[in-house]
Amino acid sequence: MSIVEKFMTMDYGPAPEDPREVLTWLERHGRRFGHFVGGTWQAPVAGEYFDTTDPSTGEKLAAVAQGSAADVDAAVRAARAALPAWQSRTPHARARYLYALARQVQKHSRRLAVLETMDNGKPIRESRDIDIPLVARHFYYHAGWAQLVEQEFPGHTACGVVGQIIPWNFPLLMLAWKIAPALATGNTLVLKPAEFTPLSALAFAEICQEVELPPGVVNIVTGDGSTGEALVKHPDVDKIAFTGSTEVGRAIRKATAQSHKKLSLELGGKSPFIIFEDADLDSAVEGLVDGIWLNQGQVCCAGSRLLMQESIAEKLITKICDRMNNLRMGPPLDKAIDIGAIVARVQLERIQRLVDQGVAEGATCWQPSIPMPSRGLYFPPTLLSNVHPTSVVAQQEIFGPVLAAMTFRTPSEAVELANNTVYGLAACVWSESVNVSLHVAAQLKAGVVWVNCTNLFDASCGFGGYRESGYGREGGREGLLEYLEPAWFKHAPPLRSLPLAIDQPPDERVDFAAPPIDRTVKLFIGGKQTRPDSGYSMAVRGADGRLLGEAPLGNRKDIRNAVEAARKGAGWTKTTAHNRAQVLFYMGENLSQRRGEIAERLAAVVGKKQAETEVSLGIERIFSYAAWADKFEGAVHNPPFRNVALAMQEPVGTIGIVCPAAAPLLGFLSLVMAAIAVGNTVIAVPSEAYPLITGDLYQVFETSDLPDGAVNIVTGRSAELLKVIAEHDDVDAIWCFGDEASGAAAKALSIGNLKQVFTNEGRAIDWFDARQGEGRWFLQHAAQVKNIWVPYGE
Ligand code: NAI
Repeated sequence: MSIVEKFMTMDYGPAPEDPREVLTWLERHGRRFGHFVGGTWQAPVAGEYFDTTDPSTGEKLAAVAQGSAADVDAAVRAARAALPAWQSRTPHARARYLYALARQVQKHSRRLAVLETMDNGKPIRESRDIDIPLVARHFYYHAGWAQLVEQEFPGHTACGVVGQIIPWNFPLLMLAWKIAPALATGNTLVLKPAEFTPLSALAFAEICQEVELPPGVVNIVTGDGSTGEALVKHPDVDKIAFTGSTEVGRAIRKATAQSHKKLSLELGGKSPFIIFEDADLDSAVEGLVDGIWLNQGQVCCAGSRLLMQESIAEKLITKICDRMNNLRMGPPLDKAIDIGAIVARVQLERIQRLVDQGVAEGATCWQPSIPMPSRGLYFPPTLLSNVHPTSVVAQQEIFGPVLAAMTFRTPSEAVELANNTVYGLAACVWSESVNVSLHVAAQLKAGVVWVNCTNLFDASCGFGGYRESGYGREGGREGLLEYLEPAWFKHAPPLRSLPLAIDQPPDERVDFAAPPIDRTVKLFIGGKQTRPDSGYSMAVRGADGRLLGEAPLGNRKDIRNAVEAARKGAGWTKTTAHNRAQVLFYMGENLSQRRGEIAERLAAVVGKKQAETEVSLGIERIFSYAAWADKFEGAVHNPPFRNVALAMQEPVGTIGIVCPAAAPLLGFLSLVMAAIAVGNTVIAVPSEAYPLITGDLYQVFETSDLPDGAVNIVTGRSAELLKVIAEHDDVDAIWCFGDEASGAAAKALSIGNLKQVFTNEGRAIDWFDARQGEGRWFLQHAAQVKNIWVPYGE
């Protein structure tokens, strides 16, 4: 080709990266790796190995150990043994280790990038310019947190031994997201990399040796899903952190339900990429290239659903196809390549199967005629148009370079379509109007919203999902909380080992000589007092066995009505924080006016002293959450790009709350007020021991301007109602503060829509002690952070 011709086409020649250093490194290890346990390489107990290959060539890179339950056990024991010494190090000492890890990653960045590309198939341009720099940034950022953690999180302690399971799409980056915050907060860990991409984790193990990290603090066990399962089930693991498919996330949730393991899940997504007619279309198309074709679309937050405003759809599709015709597909070690290889044959086949299904359901498939390598696992960039919103390709995660396009007419239709999925990981909004962008961003059910940008990540900005995309955040202050627990809670005694006030005879007798007043209590649903569907009531007795009144026996139908009312009461979510504070203060005032009568009735069950304390502390608790309502705020992050990220504290949605039996008034208020202060709506099941408190509560609510449906109360048998709430798909979270069995039931029964679960883990909480019974710990469970990234600057 002549120079003139080259100039006309502006084609790049190949620019291959040299793999020599990586090959030398593999040879140095004899192309065979054991597990990294207790600071040394250990051969697998069962002696089994499997091959990891380069997906762009099919060539074997190395054999790695297949971890058995015995290998996992050895690693967990090493982590447990290392824990006390690691925790007794000063924050500064831990900070120095994290800093050393960051430095060492930086020093070996090119080798790590090449290794990652060879094992995973992603373009070197991405591993070199995105993955590895973000890995280093993550360790630097958390070196800072290690230094500050005791000052910034007083009264907190590390979870202990953490089990971490990561996927194959960003192997070293996911490792960094897991290991850095765990170490910064004083945990020790066992990490299991994905079976398709174990090598960069093993290179990291060597880095741990190089910086002389104390043996056992980081352990790496390789293997497949069965190795992950053994880690999840190991009884001596205190927390599991998982990134991967929603299906495995569910299995992990099920496997940990009967344990007290803390759990964070970062799962799949089907993220919308919304383009409005006033967007800068060329920038949006470039964004889309990153959004869906980064890492061959094998990205949990890939913008895989393109939602275009109807007026620009045709023009946009033409631009997208033009751009797709210019994408370069080929050997990932070529520096001029846009699209590399798919990680494994099973994934390639899965992508093809889903595309075929989409076409069978009516979608039109378009692929550019760009050269495809003759060997290796490749899938061409693909555009599916005429996709029906209910089609499998609009609903299921494809995890490949496949874009499903749909149109909308108005912003509200865009929001409706965008939220029409079980997932909620990320979203992109493209519009030149800041008002439209932020208005839409606020309504999207997603943990991250990128305005006029896409796929930006930073250690300072929490990342994680809404709904079935999981819960918990990685990065930022909120990411650290996943690896910490309030120290008092970690060491709280089991519920039943402390005698409950309610089990004690009243400390001061009430005058029962007076004739009883018949108390008719009803359910409270949608702001109305209603009779139960069952037509049955349950007798409520005082501490001396005397009948105090009857409470409705709520059933499945009542809970359904309450959930519907709570959904309709979503106006509460949109009220200003100031208004919520006003309503809560007013509740405190109204409870105060009735304090005498309420305490008198409550005294029949818990004794006069406790009853009076419950009422007076209850008023205080309401005031506390009135105070918090407009102070539990988000943050503005300054990631090292020309963006700000607005971290908003958003309500989780509708929360089902099963209140503790003891402290019928104070327990109820401690939980329900925290939930509504943040803007959630609630279905509450009051103390089964004294459900008559409902009558007093709704009288307070009715006189306090609380909108209908914001709080709904269904009395009845806690265990039965818990089951209905846990299984209801329109409930977003469940808080269950009962005995050990009910906490486990809440977790096990709510696997369907992966509700967030908050329980006392069968431990005793002293509701009378404000350090335990109120504050940020509850608010953090009532809210989830949404990060909205907005570009700014020149
Ligand atoms: P996966 O969820 O099976 O694998 C992720 C990790 O979990 C791997 O380390 C695996 O060994 C481990 N694992 C598998 N079964 C386990 C179990 N029962 N207990 C504990 N650990 C277990 O993902 P897979 O099969 O590699 O990919 C299938 C689909 O999952 C993809 O097509 C994609 O849709 C989705 N996926 C989503 C990811 C995300 O980042 N959200 C990452 C990887 C996959």
